[in-house]
Amino acid sequence: MDKFVIKGGKKLNGKVSVSGAKNASLALMPAVLLTSGISRLYNTPRLNDVFTMIKLLSQMGVTSNFKDEQLEINTTEIKTYEAPYELVKKMRASIYVLGPLLSRYGYAKVSLPGGCAWGPRPINLHLMALQKMGAKIDLEQGYIIAKANKLNGAKISFDIPSVGATGNTLMAAALAKGTTVINNAACEPEITNLANFLIKMGAKINGIGTSILEIQGVDELTPSEINTIPDRIEAGTLLIAAAITKGSIELIDANEYHIYSILSKLEEAGIKITIGKNSIQLDATDSEIKSVDVSTSVFPGFPTDMQAQWIALMSLANGTANVTDTIYFDRFNHVPELVRLGADIVVNDNTARVVGVKKLTGAKVMSTDLRASASLVLAGLAAEGTTEVLRVYHLDRGYQKIEEKLNSLGADIQRVQSSEY
Ligand code: EPZ
Repeated sequence: MDKFVIKGGKKLNGKVSVSGAKNASLALMPAVLLTSGISRLYNTPRLNDVFTMIKLLSQMGVTSNFKDEQLEINTTEIKTYEAPYELVKKMRASIYVLGPLLSRYGYAKVSLPGGCAWGPRPINLHLMALQKMGAKIDLEQGYIIAKANKLNGAKISFDIPSVGATGNTLMAAALAKGTTVINNAACEPEITNLANFLIKMGAKINGIGTSILEIQGVDELTPSEINTIPDRIEAGTLLIAAAITKGSIELIDANEYHIYSILSKLEEAGIKITIGKNSIQLDATDSEIKSVDVSTSVFPGFPTDMQAQWIALMSLANGTANVTDTIYFDRFNHVPELVRLGADIVVNDNTARVVGVKKLTGAKVMSTDLRASASLVLAGLAAEGTTEVLRVYHLDRGYQKIEEKLNSLGADIQRVQSSEY
Protein backbone atom coordinates (compact mmCIF):
# COMPACT_ATOMS: atom_id res chain seq x y z
CA MET A 1 0.00 0.00 0.00
CA ASP A 2 1.45 3.37 -0.96
CA LYS A 3 1.64 6.42 1.24
CA PHE A 4 2.38 10.06 0.41
CA VAL A 5 5.23 11.83 2.21
CA ILE A 6 4.46 15.55 1.89
CA LYS A 7 6.87 18.35 2.81
CA GLY A 8 4.47 21.22 3.50
CA GLY A 9 4.75 24.97 3.12
CA LYS A 10 5.39 25.18 -0.63
CA LYS A 11 3.25 27.70 -2.51
CA LEU A 12 1.71 26.18 -5.64
CA ASN A 13 2.25 28.14 -8.83
CA GLY A 14 1.82 27.36 -12.53
CA LYS A 15 -0.56 25.81 -15.00
CA VAL A 16 -2.35 22.48 -14.68
CA SER A 17 -5.02 20.70 -16.72
CA VAL A 18 -8.11 18.91 -15.44
CA SER A 19 -8.67 15.28 -16.46
CA GLY A 20 -11.93 13.73 -17.59
CA ALA A 21 -14.61 13.22 -14.95
CA LYS A 22 -14.55 9.97 -12.96
CA ASN A 23 -18.27 10.14 -12.21
CA ALA A 24 -19.12 10.75 -15.85
CA SER A 25 -16.93 7.85 -17.05
CA LEU A 26 -18.52 5.46 -14.54
CA ALA A 27 -21.91 6.16 -16.15
CA LEU A 28 -20.76 6.40 -19.79
CA MET A 29 -18.95 3.03 -19.70
CA PRO A 30 -21.93 0.83 -18.68
CA ALA A 31 -24.14 2.74 -21.13
CA VAL A 32 -22.38 0.94 -23.98
CA LEU A 33 -24.07 -2.27 -22.77
CA LEU A 34 -27.19 -0.92 -24.50
CA THR A 35 -25.54 -1.43 -27.89
CA SER A 36 -23.64 -4.08 -29.82
CA GLY A 37 -20.38 -2.97 -31.42
CA ILE A 38 -17.54 -0.56 -30.71
CA SER A 39 -18.05 2.75 -28.86
CA ARG A 40 -15.37 5.33 -28.07
CA LEU A 41 -15.14 7.47 -24.93
CA TYR A 42 -12.70 10.37 -25.26
CA ASN A 43 -10.94 12.12 -22.36
CA THR A 44 -11.44 9.11 -20.07
CA PRO A 45 -9.30 9.47 -16.91
CA ARG A 46 -6.84 6.67 -16.15
CA LEU A 47 -7.81 6.00 -12.56
CA ASN A 48 -8.55 2.92 -10.52
CA ASP A 49 -12.34 3.14 -10.55
CA VAL A 50 -12.24 3.24 -14.36
CA PHE A 51 -9.98 0.16 -14.38
CA THR A 52 -12.42 -1.57 -11.99
CA MET A 53 -15.32 -0.79 -14.35
CA ILE A 54 -13.26 -2.16 -17.29
CA LYS A 55 -12.71 -5.35 -15.28
CA LEU A 56 -16.41 -5.60 -14.41
CA LEU A 57 -17.43 -5.21 -18.06
CA SER A 58 -14.77 -7.68 -19.18
CA GLN A 59 -16.36 -10.35 -16.95
CA MET A 60 -19.44 -10.00 -19.14
CA GLY A 61 -17.43 -10.48 -22.32
CA VAL A 62 -16.93 -6.80 -23.08
CA THR A 63 -13.45 -5.92 -24.38
CA SER A 64 -11.87 -2.52 -23.74
CA ASN A 65 -8.85 -0.89 -25.30
CA PHE A 66 -7.39 2.12 -23.50
CA LYS A 67 -5.14 4.24 -25.78
CA ASP A 68 -3.99 7.49 -24.12
CA GLU A 69 -7.26 9.00 -22.91
CA GLN A 70 -9.38 7.24 -25.52
CA LEU A 71 -11.32 4.22 -24.27
CA GLU A 72 -12.63 1.90 -27.00
CA ILE A 73 -15.25 -0.56 -25.74
CA ASN A 74 -16.50 -3.53 -27.78
CA THR A 75 -19.82 -5.05 -26.71
CA THR A 76 -20.21 -7.51 -29.58
CA GLU A 77 -19.58 -10.64 -27.50
CA ILE A 78 -21.52 -10.16 -24.28
CA LYS A 79 -21.88 -13.55 -22.60
CA THR A 80 -23.02 -12.97 -19.02
CA TYR A 81 -25.13 -10.38 -17.31
CA GLU A 82 -23.66 -10.45 -13.84
CA ALA A 83 -21.79 -8.05 -11.55
CA PRO A 84 -20.06 -10.11 -8.83
CA TYR A 85 -19.72 -9.06 -5.18
CA GLU A 86 -15.90 -9.03 -5.41
CA LEU A 87 -16.07 -6.08 -7.80
CA VAL A 88 -19.25 -4.35 -6.64
CA LYS A 89 -17.93 -4.14 -3.05
CA LYS A 90 -14.91 -2.25 -4.43
CA MET A 91 -16.98 0.23 -6.34
CA ARG A 92 -20.62 1.15 -5.75
CA ALA A 93 -20.92 2.60 -9.23
CA SER A 94 -21.02 -1.02 -10.48
CA ILE A 95 -24.77 -0.74 -9.84
CA TYR A 96 -24.90 1.28 -13.08
CA VAL A 97 -24.83 -1.98 -15.10
CA LEU A 98 -28.25 -2.95 -13.73
CA GLY A 99 -30.39 -0.66 -15.89
CA PRO A 100 -28.70 -1.28 -19.25
CA LEU A 101 -28.41 -5.07 -18.79
CA LEU A 102 -32.07 -5.35 -17.77
CA SER A 103 -33.27 -3.12 -20.56
CA ARG A 104 -31.28 -4.79 -23.35
CA TYR A 105 -31.09 -8.41 -22.18
CA GLY A 106 -34.08 -8.72 -19.83
CA TYR A 107 -31.89 -10.10 -17.03
CA ALA A 108 -29.27 -8.85 -14.59
CA LYS A 109 -27.67 -10.32 -11.50
CA VAL A 110 -25.91 -7.57 -9.58
CA SER A 111 -24.47 -7.78 -6.09
CA LEU A 112 -25.95 -5.41 -3.56
CA PRO A 113 -23.24 -2.76 -3.03
CA GLY A 114 -22.84 -3.37 0.71
CA GLY A 115 -21.38 -0.75 3.03
CA CYS A 116 -19.38 2.34 2.28
CA ALA A 117 -16.75 4.26 4.25
CA TRP A 118 -19.51 6.50 5.51
CA GLY A 119 -23.13 5.71 6.27
CA PRO A 120 -25.70 3.58 4.47
CA ARG A 121 -25.97 4.29 0.77
CA PRO A 122 -29.25 2.63 -0.19
CA ILE A 123 -30.33 1.80 -3.74
CA ASN A 124 -34.07 1.68 -3.08
CA LEU A 125 -34.75 4.42 -5.68
CA HIS A 126 -32.92 2.44 -8.39
CA LEU A 127 -35.04 -0.65 -7.64
CA MET A 128 -38.32 1.30 -7.28
CA ALA A 129 -37.86 2.82 -10.73
CA LEU A 130 -37.09 -0.48 -12.45
CA GLN A 131 -40.03 -2.18 -10.72
CA LYS A 132 -42.32 0.62 -11.93
CA MET A 133 -41.06 -0.17 -15.44
CA GLY A 134 -42.16 -3.78 -14.98
CA ALA A 135 -39.01 -5.47 -13.72
CA LYS A 136 -39.30 -8.41 -11.31
CA ILE A 137 -36.70 -7.78 -8.60
CA ASP A 138 -35.66 -10.48 -6.10
CA LEU A 139 -32.88 -10.31 -3.52
CA GLU A 140 -31.03 -13.62 -3.13
CA GLN A 141 -27.89 -14.17 -1.05
CA GLY A 142 -26.78 -10.57 -1.34
CA TYR A 143 -27.61 -10.31 -5.04
CA ILE A 144 -30.26 -8.39 -6.95
CA ILE A 145 -31.89 -10.71 -9.49
CA ALA A 146 -33.74 -8.52 -11.99
CA LYS A 147 -35.89 -9.89 -14.82
CA ALA A 148 -38.13 -8.30 -17.44
CA ASN A 149 -39.30 -9.53 -20.85
CA LYS A 150 -39.48 -5.92 -21.98
CA LEU A 151 -39.40 -2.88 -19.73
CA ASN A 152 -42.31 -0.49 -20.13
CA GLY A 153 -42.15 3.26 -19.92
CA ALA A 154 -43.46 4.63 -16.62
CA LYS A 155 -43.94 7.86 -14.68
CA ILE A 156 -41.30 7.84 -11.95
CA SER A 157 -40.83 10.42 -9.21
CA PHE A 158 -37.76 10.35 -6.96
CA ASP A 159 -38.02 11.55 -3.35
CA ILE A 160 -34.32 12.46 -3.65
CA PRO A 161 -32.68 13.58 -6.93
CA SER A 162 -30.32 10.61 -6.83
CA VAL A 163 -27.50 10.75 -9.40
CA GLY A 164 -27.15 6.97 -9.64
CA ALA A 165 -30.86 6.23 -9.71
CA THR A 166 -31.35 8.87 -12.42
CA GLY A 167 -28.53 7.37 -14.50
CA ASN A 168 -29.78 3.80 -14.13
CA THR A 169 -33.36 4.76 -14.97
CA LEU A 170 -32.27 6.88 -17.94
CA MET A 171 -30.37 3.94 -19.43
CA ALA A 172 -33.21 1.51 -18.73
CA ALA A 173 -35.82 3.84 -20.25
CA ALA A 174 -33.83 4.35 -23.48
CA LEU A 175 -34.80 0.85 -24.71
CA ALA A 176 -38.11 0.49 -22.85
CA LYS A 177 -41.44 0.26 -24.66
CA GLY A 178 -43.17 3.64 -24.50
CA THR A 179 -42.45 6.86 -22.65
CA THR A 180 -40.79 7.29 -19.28
CA VAL A 181 -40.91 10.48 -17.23
CA ILE A 182 -38.35 10.91 -14.46
CA ASN A 183 -39.52 13.58 -12.05
CA ASN A 184 -36.99 15.10 -9.62
CA ALA A 185 -34.15 13.73 -11.74
CA ALA A 186 -30.55 14.62 -10.85
CA CYS A 187 -29.22 17.56 -12.89
CA GLU A 188 -25.53 16.85 -12.30
CA PRO A 189 -23.33 17.50 -15.37
CA GLU A 190 -22.39 13.81 -15.39
CA ILE A 191 -26.05 12.91 -16.02
CA THR A 192 -26.18 15.46 -18.84
CA ASN A 193 -23.02 13.89 -20.31
CA LEU A 194 -24.70 10.46 -20.12
CA ALA A 195 -27.94 11.73 -21.70
CA ASN A 196 -26.00 13.32 -24.57
CA PHE A 197 -24.18 10.02 -25.15
CA LEU A 198 -27.51 8.14 -25.23
CA ILE A 199 -28.87 10.70 -27.72
CA LYS A 200 -25.85 10.04 -29.96
CA MET A 201 -26.68 6.32 -29.74
CA GLY A 202 -30.19 7.11 -31.01
CA ALA A 203 -32.12 7.60 -27.78
CA LYS A 204 -34.95 10.12 -27.60
CA ILE A 205 -34.64 12.28 -24.46
CA ASN A 206 -36.19 15.65 -23.61
CA GLY A 207 -35.46 17.92 -20.63
CA ILE A 208 -31.71 17.24 -20.52
CA GLY A 209 -30.13 19.30 -17.74
CA THR A 210 -33.45 19.78 -15.95
CA SER A 211 -35.10 17.83 -13.13
CA ILE A 212 -37.82 16.42 -15.39
CA LEU A 213 -36.57 14.02 -18.06
CA GLU A 214 -38.84 12.47 -20.69
CA ILE A 215 -37.52 9.45 -22.57
CA GLN A 216 -39.26 7.94 -25.60
CA GLY A 217 -38.03 4.32 -25.73
CA VAL A 218 -36.61 3.07 -29.06
CA ASP A 219 -36.12 -0.46 -30.38
CA GLU A 220 -32.38 -0.31 -30.80
CA LEU A 221 -29.39 1.87 -29.96
CA THR A 222 -26.16 1.94 -31.94
CA PRO A 223 -22.56 2.34 -30.77
CA SER A 224 -21.28 5.91 -30.75
CA GLU A 225 -18.63 8.14 -29.27
CA ILE A 226 -18.62 10.91 -26.68
CA ASN A 227 -16.30 13.40 -25.02
CA THR A 228 -16.14 12.92 -21.27
CA ILE A 229 -16.69 16.22 -19.44
CA PRO A 230 -13.86 17.56 -17.26
CA ASP A 231 -13.80 16.46 -13.63
CA ARG A 232 -15.37 19.29 -11.61
CA ILE A 233 -14.27 17.72 -8.32
CA GLU A 234 -10.65 17.42 -9.42
CA ALA A 235 -10.90 21.05 -10.60
CA GLY A 236 -12.18 22.14 -7.18
CA THR A 237 -9.54 20.08 -5.40
CA LEU A 238 -6.69 21.64 -7.44
CA LEU A 239 -8.07 25.15 -6.83
CA ILE A 240 -8.15 24.54 -3.08
CA ALA A 241 -4.59 23.17 -3.24
CA ALA A 242 -3.50 26.55 -4.63
CA ALA A 243 -5.67 28.49 -2.17
CA ILE A 244 -4.52 26.62 0.96
CA THR A 245 -0.83 27.19 0.04
CA LYS A 246 -1.45 30.88 -0.83
CA GLY A 247 -0.30 30.17 -4.36
CA SER A 248 -1.42 31.22 -7.81
CA ILE A 249 -2.40 28.72 -10.53
CA GLU A 250 -4.04 28.57 -13.91
CA LEU A 251 -6.46 25.69 -14.35
CA ILE A 252 -7.07 24.65 -17.96
CA ASP A 253 -9.74 22.43 -19.51
CA ALA A 254 -12.12 22.97 -16.55
CA ASN A 255 -15.75 23.85 -17.23
CA GLU A 256 -16.55 27.00 -15.23
CA TYR A 257 -20.30 26.31 -15.49
CA HIS A 258 -19.81 23.12 -13.51
CA ILE A 259 -17.98 24.76 -10.62
CA TYR A 260 -19.65 28.16 -10.10
CA SER A 261 -20.65 27.20 -6.56
CA ILE A 262 -17.02 26.43 -5.70
CA LEU A 263 -15.66 29.55 -7.42
CA SER A 264 -18.12 31.82 -5.63
CA LYS A 265 -17.26 30.34 -2.22
CA LEU A 266 -13.54 30.81 -2.95
CA GLU A 267 -14.19 34.47 -3.84
CA GLU A 268 -16.28 34.87 -0.68
CA ALA A 269 -13.22 33.57 1.22
CA GLY A 270 -11.20 36.45 -0.22
CA ILE A 271 -9.44 34.58 -3.00
CA LYS A 272 -9.02 36.18 -6.43
CA ILE A 273 -10.59 34.23 -9.31
CA THR A 274 -10.26 35.29 -12.96
CA ILE A 275 -12.08 33.39 -15.69
CA GLY A 276 -10.37 33.37 -19.10
CA LYS A 277 -10.92 31.43 -22.31
CA ASN A 278 -10.58 27.74 -21.33
CA SER A 279 -8.75 28.80 -18.18
CA ILE A 280 -9.55 29.69 -14.60
CA GLN A 281 -6.93 31.63 -12.66
CA LEU A 282 -6.77 31.55 -8.90
CA ASP A 283 -4.50 33.94 -7.00
CA ALA A 284 -4.28 33.58 -3.23
CA THR A 285 -0.81 35.09 -2.80
CA ASP A 286 -2.00 38.13 -0.88
CA SER A 287 -5.19 36.60 0.48
CA GLU A 288 -6.05 36.24 4.09
CA ILE A 289 -8.48 33.34 3.87
CA LYS A 290 -11.81 34.21 5.42
CA SER A 291 -14.04 31.63 7.13
CA VAL A 292 -17.07 30.93 4.93
CA ASP A 293 -20.01 28.68 5.77
CA VAL A 294 -20.96 25.98 3.27
CA SER A 295 -24.02 23.74 3.06
CA THR A 296 -23.72 21.07 0.41
CA SER A 297 -26.56 20.43 -1.98
CA VAL A 298 -27.29 18.83 -5.34
CA PHE A 299 -26.02 20.49 -8.52
CA PRO A 300 -25.66 23.40 -9.06
CA GLY A 301 -25.16 23.82 -5.31
CA PHE A 302 -21.88 23.17 -3.49
CA PRO A 303 -21.04 19.49 -4.07
CA THR A 304 -20.79 17.02 -1.20
CA ASP A 305 -17.67 15.67 -2.94
CA MET A 306 -15.97 18.98 -2.13
CA GLN A 307 -17.03 19.13 1.54
CA ALA A 308 -13.90 17.49 2.93
CA GLN A 309 -11.62 19.70 0.83
CA TRP A 310 -13.47 22.82 1.98
CA ILE A 311 -13.06 21.85 5.63
CA ALA A 312 -9.29 21.52 5.04
CA LEU A 313 -9.18 25.07 3.67
CA MET A 314 -11.34 26.45 6.47
CA SER A 315 -8.99 24.87 9.03
CA LEU A 316 -6.53 27.66 8.23
CA ALA A 317 -9.05 30.46 7.68
CA ASN A 318 -9.45 33.54 9.82
CA GLY A 319 -12.60 32.89 11.84
CA THR A 320 -15.14 30.10 12.31
CA ALA A 321 -16.94 28.27 9.47
CA ASN A 322 -19.89 25.87 9.70
CA VAL A 323 -19.76 23.19 7.02
CA THR A 324 -22.98 21.17 6.70
CA ASP A 325 -23.43 18.10 4.49
CA THR A 326 -27.10 17.74 3.56
CA ILE A 327 -26.44 14.82 1.17
CA TYR A 328 -24.50 12.47 3.44
CA PHE A 329 -25.03 13.18 7.12
CA ASP A 330 -21.98 11.29 8.33
CA ARG A 331 -19.32 11.98 5.72
CA PHE A 332 -16.80 13.37 8.21
CA ASN A 333 -14.17 10.62 8.67
CA HIS A 334 -11.52 13.14 7.59
CA VAL A 335 -12.16 15.35 10.64
CA PRO A 336 -10.33 13.30 13.32
CA GLU A 337 -7.36 13.01 10.95
CA LEU A 338 -7.31 16.77 10.28
CA VAL A 339 -7.43 17.30 14.06
CA ARG A 340 -4.22 15.25 14.28
CA LEU A 341 -2.63 17.94 12.11
CA GLY A 342 -3.76 20.60 14.59
CA ALA A 343 -7.12 21.61 13.10
CA ASP A 344 -9.83 22.78 15.50
CA ILE A 345 -13.03 21.08 14.28
CA VAL A 346 -16.05 19.72 16.11
CA VAL A 347 -18.78 17.76 14.33
CA ASN A 348 -22.37 17.85 15.56
CA ASP A 349 -24.92 15.87 13.55
CA ASN A 350 -24.13 16.77 9.95
CA THR A 351 -22.30 20.04 10.62
CA ALA A 352 -18.58 20.53 11.18
CA ARG A 353 -17.69 23.68 13.10
CA VAL A 354 -14.23 24.71 11.92
CA VAL A 355 -12.35 27.29 14.00
CA GLY A 356 -9.41 28.49 11.92
CA VAL A 357 -5.95 28.02 13.42
CA LYS A 358 -2.74 29.86 12.63
CA LYS A 359 -0.93 26.74 11.47
CA LEU A 360 -1.16 23.02 10.93
CA THR A 361 1.74 20.75 11.87
CA GLY A 362 2.73 17.69 9.87
CA ALA A 363 1.89 14.22 11.24
CA LYS A 364 0.97 10.71 10.12
CA VAL A 365 -2.67 10.56 9.04
CA MET A 366 -4.83 7.87 7.50
CA SER A 367 -7.09 8.04 4.46
CA THR A 368 -10.52 6.56 5.02
CA ASP A 369 -12.20 7.32 1.69
CA LEU A 370 -11.58 9.12 -1.57
CA ARG A 371 -12.42 12.72 -0.75
CA ALA A 372 -11.24 12.41 2.86
CA SER A 373 -7.79 11.47 1.53
CA ALA A 374 -7.88 14.49 -0.79
CA SER A 375 -8.53 16.76 2.20
CA LEU A 376 -5.58 15.26 4.09
CA VAL A 377 -3.27 15.86 1.13
CA LEU A 378 -4.46 19.48 0.90
CA ALA A 379 -3.87 20.01 4.62
CA GLY A 380 -0.44 18.36 4.31
CA LEU A 381 0.51 20.80 1.54
CA ALA A 382 -0.03 23.69 3.95
CA ALA A 383 1.15 22.06 7.20
CA GLU A 384 4.56 22.90 8.65
CA GLY A 385 6.96 19.96 8.40
CA THR A 386 6.23 16.54 6.98
CA THR A 387 2.84 14.88 6.69
CA GLU A 388 2.48 11.20 5.82
CA VAL A 389 -0.87 10.25 4.29
CA LEU A 390 -1.41 6.49 4.53
CA ARG A 391 -3.62 4.31 2.29
CA VAL A 392 -3.51 6.55 -0.77
CA TYR A 393 -5.18 3.76 -2.73
CA HIS A 394 -8.33 5.63 -1.77
CA LEU A 395 -7.00 8.68 -3.62
CA ASP A 396 -6.02 6.65 -6.68
CA ARG A 397 -9.66 5.65 -7.14
CA GLY A 398 -10.67 9.15 -8.12
CA TYR A 399 -7.59 11.16 -9.09
CA GLN A 400 -5.20 10.45 -11.94
CA LYS A 401 -1.72 10.67 -10.39
CA ILE A 402 -2.61 13.80 -8.44
CA GLU A 403 0.84 13.95 -6.83
CA GLU A 404 2.38 14.47 -10.29
CA LYS A 405 0.01 17.36 -10.97
CA LEU A 406 0.64 18.93 -7.57
CA ASN A 407 4.43 18.46 -7.82
CA SER A 408 4.35 20.09 -11.27
CA LEU A 409 2.97 23.14 -9.43
CA GLY A 410 5.75 23.13 -6.85
CA ALA A 411 4.52 20.72 -4.19
CA ASP A 412 6.92 18.21 -2.62
CA ILE A 413 5.03 14.91 -2.48
CA GLN A 414 6.73 11.55 -2.59
CA ARG A 415 4.75 8.37 -3.24
CA VAL A 416 6.37 5.70 -1.04
CA GLN A 417 5.66 1.98 -0.76
CA SER A 418 4.48 1.29 2.76
CA SER A 419 3.64 -1.77 4.81
CA GLU A 420 1.91 0.49 7.33
CA TYR A 421 -1.85 0.54 7.14
C1 EPZ B 1 -22.85 9.89 -6.92
O1 EPZ B 1 -23.10 8.82 -6.01
C2 EPZ B 1 -21.34 10.07 -6.95
N1 EPZ B 1 -20.72 8.84 -7.42
C3 EPZ B 1 -20.82 10.40 -5.55
O2 EPZ B 1 -19.42 10.69 -5.68
C4 EPZ B 1 -21.52 11.66 -5.05
O3 EPZ B 1 -21.11 11.92 -3.73
C5 EPZ B 1 -23.05 11.47 -5.11
O4 EPZ B 1 -23.45 11.11 -6.44
C6 EPZ B 1 -23.80 12.73 -4.71
O5 EPZ B 1 -23.47 13.77 -5.58
C7 EPZ B 1 -20.76 8.55 -8.75
O6 EPZ B 1 -21.30 9.29 -9.54
C8 EPZ B 1 -20.09 7.28 -9.16
P1 EPZ B 1 -26.85 9.63 -4.98
P2 EPZ B 1 -24.59 8.18 -5.91
O7 EPZ B 1 -27.63 8.44 -5.40
O8 EPZ B 1 -25.21 8.12 -7.23
C9 EPZ B 1 -29.60 8.79 -1.24
C10 EPZ B 1 -17.15 10.53 -5.20
O9 EPZ B 1 -16.53 10.94 -4.21
N2 EPZ B 1 -30.11 7.66 -2.03
O10 EPZ B 1 -27.07 10.93 -5.69
O11 EPZ B 1 -24.48 6.92 -5.12
C11 EPZ B 1 -28.17 8.56 -0.76
O12 EPZ B 1 -28.16 7.85 0.44
C12 EPZ B 1 -18.49 9.83 -5.01
O13 EPZ B 1 -16.78 10.69 -6.40
C13 EPZ B 1 -31.21 6.94 -1.53
O14 EPZ B 1 -31.73 7.22 -0.45
O15 EPZ B 1 -25.30 9.30 -5.02
C14 EPZ B 1 -27.65 9.97 -0.60
O16 EPZ B 1 -28.06 10.48 0.66
C15 EPZ B 1 -18.82 9.60 -3.56
N3 EPZ B 1 -31.69 5.89 -2.26
C16 EPZ B 1 -28.38 10.76 -1.69
O17 EPZ B 1 -29.48 9.95 -2.10
C17 EPZ B 1 -31.14 5.54 -3.48
O18 EPZ B 1 -31.64 4.58 -4.11
C18 EPZ B 1 -27.55 11.06 -2.91
O19 EPZ B 1 -27.08 9.83 -3.42
C19 EPZ B 1 -30.04 6.28 -3.96
C20 EPZ B 1 -29.54 7.34 -3.22
